[in-house]
Amino acid sequence: MSLVPDSVLAAMAEYYREFPGCAGRSLHRFAEEVGHRFEGARDAFARFLGAPDRDGVVFVRNATEAINLVGAGLDWKRGDRIVVTDQEHNSNLVLWQRLARERGVRVAALELPDAGRWDGDLLEAILRPRPRLVSVFHTSNLDGRSLPIREIAERVHDAGGQLLVDGCQAAPHQSVDLANLGIDFYALSLHKMLGPTGTGLLIAPTAALADLRPLIVGGETVEWTTLTEHRLRPPPHRFEAGLQNYAGVLGARAGIDYLERIGRDEVRAHDLALNRRVTEALADEPRLHVLGPETAAERPSIFGFTIDGVDPNDAALFLDAGHRVLVRSGMHCVHSWYAARGLSGNVRASFYLYNSIGDADALVRGIRELIERIPAPAAATTEARSTGTSAGRPPRAGRPGPSRRAAGSTRVAARSARPRGRAARGRAGFGAGSG
Ligand SMILES: Cc1ncc(COP(=O)(O)O)c(C=O)c1O
Repeated sequence: MSLVPDSVLAAMAEYYREFPGCAGRSLHRFAEEVGHRFEGARDAFARFLGAPDRDGVVFVRNATEAINLVGAGLDWKRGDRIVVTDQEHNSNLVLWQRLARERGVRVAALELPDAGRWDGDLLEAILRPRPRLVSVFHTSNLDGRSLPIREIAERVHDAGGQLLVDGCQAAPHQSVDLANLGIDFYALSLHKMLGPTGTGLLIAPTAALADLRPLIVGGETVEWTTLTEHRLRPPPHRFEAGLQNYAGVLGARAGIDYLERIGRDEVRAHDLALNRRVTEALADEPRLHVLGPETAAERPSIFGFTIDGVDPNDAALFLDAGHRVLVRSGMHCVHSWYAARGLSGNVRASFYLYNSIGDADALVRGIRELIERIPAPAAATTEARSTGTSAGRPPRAGRPGPSRRAAGSTRVAARSARPRGRAARGRAGFGAGSG
């Protein structure tokens, strides 16, 4: 998730203070105002993301719900094929596994080359026989690489399937023009792009939405009911059951207004400048291995790494306590990818518009201090070689990986190494880190 600007907090407070009503049920002024603003927010998100049409923008809690809406809503037949990559977030994996178990669909995973190169032929091969649905990330939360979505959409459509894209990590960091990408469904979380928690979108052409069975039905989803029957409203309202998160949606809208004022190309250039600074500063550290593509330009928003002999969780604690840099550690909800490589996880720094050069330098200092203070284990050289190249590429999936200890064999040593200039944990400020 990202931090939120004051304008987002103000938009949420304004709702509760000035017009705390619910849309579409009453005729009084609060209801009128919230209805007007809620639909205005829909227009704004449609414009911001280049949605094929504004009625194809559905408000949900998060990307996980958006993906589940598609998974639960399509009419599956036994034997239908679903294609994912081997690098999907659990949000874009678990429900397909459940459909396989319960509905007899088949799930195939496209293996992505570790170094971030894209190979269209590999995709072409996995698209035979015809897939019913291909569901892939736009930008990976694991190593920050982006997939060529337009090319993928063309190939998937040529093969007779539909394309669902998990846009969680792409939409906050770059311009996205959905009509031009030609995809069928796009899922994202607005709390990753300056919005409040629990806000997200599913975007699709209305014709594609009309084929989905709503996940939840009830008030607001129907035009008419009798005691035995009901008639659903057209999209998007048939998917927005019950009273909505008005404050959250209006806050999230203020978030995209903020992003628009800054400019998404500027955000991307800023992410890249910070990432490049960190990547270049640490390029000569033989114990540090960067995940995914080698150059910052291919993964501008994410710097994911392992350090030989240092447990990723210990590294995260050390960077927070000693340098006030907030990073994420672990398997980032992509367990299978790490398990296939015998890794216990990695550390991930994310860059966004509120991070400064000072933050990037604090990250570099923290990593350097960690490397200096935790000696490389005797076997580290061998393990490092098998964990990745000096450019940080772990071995390909399917090959036997090194032991789970490869990325974290000195847990105790790291815990006992107290960072220099340790700041009081309670005072670690948001402005100083990158989450
Ligand atoms: C690529 C990707 N997909 C899906 C998700 C799930 O997002 P949410 O928990 O907001 O539904 C995340 C969250 O980290 C993500 O990074």
